[in-house]
Amino acid sequence: MTERIDYRGEGLTPEQVPAEPWPLVRAWVDLAEERQREHGDLREPHLITIATVDADGMPDARGVLMRFLDPRGPGFVSSTSSAKAAHLEANPVMAGVLTWVPLFRAIRFRGRAARIAAEEVDRYWTERPWGSQVGAWASRQSHPVASRGELEAAFDRYAVRWPEDGSAGPVPPPEDWAGWRIDCTSVEFWAGRASRLHDRVKFTRVAEGGLDTVGAWESVRLQP
Ligand SMILES: Cc1cc2nc3c(=O)[nH]c(=O)nc-3n(C[C@H](O)[C@H](O)[C@H](O)COP(=O)(O)O)c2cc1C
Repeated sequence: MTERIDYRGEGLTPEQVPAEPWPLVRAWVDLAEERQREHGDLREPHLITIATVDADGMPDARGVLMRFLDPRGPGFVSSTSSAKAAHLEANPVMAGVLTWVPLFRAIRFRGRAARIAAEEVDRYWTERPWGSQVGAWASRQSHPVASRGELEAAFDRYAVRWPEDGSAGPVPPPEDWAGWRIDCTSVEFWAGRASRLHDRVKFTRVAEGGLDTVGAWESVRLQP
């Protein structure tokens, strides 16, 4: 059995709830990063669980790293050959959750799936280390592979094509390299507190706009 923890987080007071969700999203992500820097007990504060729905209406979820965050919504990079990409093609909707147990906090996002512009995704590509660039070429994400050896052989082939010393130029992004963001229609903040009396505040978008659009959001406090 797992340990029973009484969540003694700081909670979320009415005074801390802004009119639009953006300042709180930014503040909580900053807090999670700071927690990892100062205590080292929150590895990968940007790990976001992304849920999609396949063509048959069956849900699926997986963790990815949030590589983009601005008032247009949280975003990540992945492959157009992946299962999630097929789901998003069939049903362009997503949910995402950032869960930070050491802070007793979580943020849930729901909305439409929006492709991130190629320039933005390619700009991020150039920041990736050589190994993960070559690895992206070697993998057709979510497709079967006969053995690990086959995958490693593919890596070696691309490593010869674009050697690490840069003699053949930088590794270009592969054709299947892509990014998506959640164009949020709701955002919920969860803050764990004692005796299961957690704070929950849910924002719902009532007009077009981003996470910081004035007048586009309404919020309500929910029972835990
Ligand atoms: C810590 C962690 C970070 C990950 N980051 C990414 C990522 O940024 N992009 C990605 O496509 N997959 C990432 N993955 C792998 C995904 O969880 C998943 O296996 C992959 O995207 C294929 O999912 P799909 O078959 O549902 O499309 C990560 C996994 C973990 C555990």
